[in-house]
Amino acid sequence: LVEIVILPTAAEVGRAAAAKIAHRIARHPETVLGLATGSSPLAIYAELAARREAGLDVGRVSGFALDEYVGLPTSHPQSYASVIRTTVTEPLGLDPARVHVPDGLADDIEAACAAYEAAIADAGGVDVQILGIGANGHIGFNEPTSSFQSRTRIKTLAPRTRQDNARFFDSLDEVPTHCVTQGLGTILEARELLLVAQGEAKADAVAAAVEGPFASVVPASVLQWHRSATVILDEAAASKL
Ligand code: GLP
Repeated sequence: LVEIVILPTAAEVGRAAAAKIAHRIARHPETVLGLATGSSPLAIYAELAARREAGLDVGRVSGFALDEYVGLPTSHPQSYASVIRTTVTEPLGLDPARVHVPDGLADDIEAACAAYEAAIADAGGVDVQILGIGANGHIGFNEPTSSFQSRTRIKTLAPRTRQDNARFFDSLDEVPTHCVTQGLGTILEARELLLVAQGEAKADAVAAAVEGPFASVVPASVLQWHRSATVILDEAAASKL
């Protein structure tokens, strides 16, 4: 069941999503968050940081990132290890030992992916999975045609995704060609899914995800299969609904 919330501005999307998460943390201090990177969730993290300043106790919150590039040193500013540290762990004051990012540098990537799945299970599973959506309908780095049952694994990035993300690098050549991402099957196991999207550029992907057929060419359509999925949009992102 997908609940859709449409708000006038991008700022309100971030605030509404953060309010939902903060409410859960207040009731369940050991909440396990699924963390997305990209620009979409940044307002959520900023609002959660403000709420922590205002007294929200996040000392026992833990987090699992959705994905990571393969081959980028964790010290590279665009590695998701760095991005999660600077946009989530540090501003929210989370315990770094409780924040996990897939390992894109392991010699044995397959074993590292299995260990990541095991760590999520050991933590009791993800309570609230925060999601953005790619312009091609991807979630995490699950590109079109990803299996709905997929688990954490190595993937080749779609050319469009590399182009979309080239703005974060000096040139397209520097964008990694591969990534490690939680699978759609992994994401589906979170107790709650919370997808946010802002802006016209996401309108087609959002419409395909929530109103189109349930189809692996639109990985985000997997939300339609979940018991408790919420999609919070600004008016531009909702304009094709
Ligand atoms: C990135 C990330 C996704 C993110 C998406 C959209 O490549 N791997 O997790 O949701 O693309 O990014 P943005 O929010 O910047 O539009």
